[in-house]
Amino acid sequence: MKAIVLRELGGPEKLLYEDVPTPTPGAGEVVVKLKAAALNHRDHWIRVGQYAGIKLPIILGSDGAGVVASVGEGIDNSLVGQECVINPSLDWGNNEAAQGKNYRILGLPDDGTHAEYIKIPAENVCAKPAHLSWHEAAALPLAGLTAYRAVISRAKVQSGEKVLVTGIGGGVATFALQFALATGAQVFVTSGSAEKLASAQALGASGGANYKEAGWDKALIELTGGGPDVVIDSAGGESLETAVKIVKPAGRIVFFGATNGLAPNLDLRRIFFKQLNVFGSTMGSPCEFDAMLKLYNDKQLKPAVDQAFPLAEAGAAHQRMMEAGQFGKIVLDIG
Ligand SMILES: NC(=O)c1ccc[n+]([C@@H]2O[C@H](COP(=O)([O-])OP(=O)(O)OC[C@H]3O[C@@H](n4cnc5c(N)ncnc54)[C@H](OP(=O)(O)O)[C@@H]3O)[C@@H](O)[C@H]2O)c1
Repeated sequence: MKAIVLRELGGPEKLLYEDVPTPTPGAGEVVVKLKAAALNHRDHWIRVGQYAGIKLPIILGSDGAGVVASVGEGIDNSLVGQECVINPSLDWGNNEAAQGKNYRILGLPDDGTHAEYIKIPAENVCAKPAHLSWHEAAALPLAGLTAYRAVISRAKVQSGEKVLVTGIGGGVATFALQFALATGAQVFVTSGSAEKLASAQALGASGGANYKEAGWDKALIELTGGGPDVVIDSAGGESLETAVKIVKPAGRIVFFGATNGLAPNLDLRRIFFKQLNVFGSTMGSPCEFDAMLKLYNDKQLKPAVDQAFPLAEAGAAHQRMMEAGQFGKIVLDIG
């Protein structure tokens, strides 16, 4: 089969379109013929060597959708032909509160979805929402799951609350906007681009501010009438530091990323004086993946898909992510 193989760390040119052996399913596993995959910032971090536990060579990719092509021992043959999305949370364990010690995210150390076929535990394939195209279905798994846990399980966003989602062009951020709106919250956003602020408003955001412009923190306090009740942040750095400043007293901040690095100026005194609740969050459990798919089906939601690249052009797709050119998910078409 064809796959994108990373043999050396470095720029997007290190992503090689190669022939590799097609996987065969072991006991309890299935092989899925992928129709589409998607990118996450994680793929970028791994490629540049800024991720724990890197092993090379590796086929990257946590997101995928396709058709079950074959099943291993112990798996019902009736699964063959099922249209599916892949849950990239491997071996979460039995505790909803946190993943266990065997937990892995698909796409390192296990080979991922940027390939024509993937071998995966049968428990990680779920029925594809029928209303989604292959590109939309492939956009959903990792970012949808992360946003679901952050917004629904951790922040427990309630109808009528004011929620700020930072860096709205990001893949996870667009899902966070969608899920917060689905709860009946009023959502505000930040972005480094006026165009993306407008796109977010077209999706239902009530307003936003450009984090590249001075005074964006004050603008958000004004827009939200005194600060948001909840902030969902994946940018880290100044974005998280500002969240602590502008969120209402007793507000909640959920964060799951550090795109901009650590937050050396995080004001600890403000956190305790304002009685803030600060939650870390990572990925999500199988129950949360099922609940996220149910929400998608019940409300007939559709992900924001930015652009699709042919699998062979994965390097160009990474380049777009590096430049933060996207609004929503960057997809790989596998035909
Ligand atoms: N812990 C987990 O389970 C988990 C899961 C998924 C992702 N993550 C992490 O979450 C982050 C986002 O992932 P992703 O895949 O959604 O990334 P992505 O699609 O590449 O989005 C990154 C976005 O970050 C925004 N950004 C950059 N600088 C910013 C700043 N100073 N303030 C606010 N926003 C800023 C940009 O938004 P604009 O384009 O609007 O300016 C950009 O589009 C990454 O760090 C990733 O590693 C963690």
